[in-house]
Amino acid sequence: MELRDTLLLLHPVLAVAIVFPLLGIVVNRALQVRQRRQQAAKGEKSKIPPTVGQEHVQLGRWLTGAVVGVALTALAYDVFDNIVDNRVFAQSPFKVILIGFLFVATIASLSALFIAQQKLWRGVFATLTGMGLVILGCQDGIYRKTDQWYFSHFYSGITAALLMIFALSILPNIYRDKTNRWRNIHIVLNSIALLLFLGQGITGTQSLLEVPLAWQESYIQQLYEQQCNTQPCTVQAAPAAPKPQ
Ligand code: HEM
Ligand code: HEM
Repeated sequence: MELRDTLLLLHPVLAVAIVFPLLGIVVNRALQVRQRRQQAAKGEKSKIPPTVGQEHVQLGRWLTGAVVGVALTALAYDVFDNIVDNRVFAQSPFKVILIGFLFVATIASLSALFIAQQKLWRGVFATLTGMGLVILGCQDGIYRKTDQWYFSHFYSGITAALLMIFALSILPNIYRDKTNRWRNIHIVLNSIALLLFLGQGITGTQSLLEVPLAWQESYIQQLYEQQCNTQPCTVQAAPAAPKPQ
């Protein structure tokens, strides 16, 4: 397998090996937190240990980092693949430097959000991280599938990542709010996020079927160009690679 194919696999491997197992534990602890709180409200003695809340939050923080990381890995692959293929650096080096800076700034903003305490700074860093993801997502080379946005791995992936960033930014509000308003907002938004993650499992696996290996790319492109799914067509041999001198 070529280096390019291995780099493509980095994103799905991280999603399957890190994000989804983490998500399972976070959701399990979330259900326990809720059950424990409801039992306490009814005055019942709960068998669920009081540490489940802490575990949910600690692993939830890791989950936010992992989801944003996994989304950035996929975006980086698509964007830099396009830069190399179309020799963008030779034409507009400033654009490439700016894109590199955006990746660094997004990671720095997320790191700052992890440590920020004040409401203002949490809002600022959450907004900057979200903006970074969205702007990077608008770059050339990303397969957005805008005409079928409701099935798009890109749109639901970015939305899920934004919801994780929001969950991290409102973390202290959930505890401080005596009316449970933030807690209920958190439950609704993150139930949607959970559905989006399940969708990512489906659309991501579908993407793996659609993306050709590096050596197959020129042939597969011909299949799309000639619309071989609807009419007979002939696939030409790819031009031979130049012999080393
Ligand atoms: C898909 C992922 C997630 C789901 C489905 C989820 C769902 C829930 C649920 C059902 C509760 C219990 C609410 C109740 O007491 O009735 C909860 C509590 C909470 N969640 Fe999440 N959550 C997720 C991710 C996160 C993340 C990423 C964070 C922050 C980093 C977070 C922070 C919190 C906090 C601070 C609480 C309150 C815990 C406590 O009362 O001790 N959650 N979540
Ligand atoms: C945590 C959940 C996930 C998130 C947030 C996520 C997010 C993203 C994003 C933002 C992209 C770039 C846009 C695109 O090219 O479509 C992408 C690409 C991709 N994802 Fe995911 N993804 C997730 C899970 C998965 C899973 C589970 C798989 C496969 C098992 C997968 C396979 C792929 C593939 C193959 C691509 C590249 C498509 C291309 O370059 O054309 N993803 N993902």
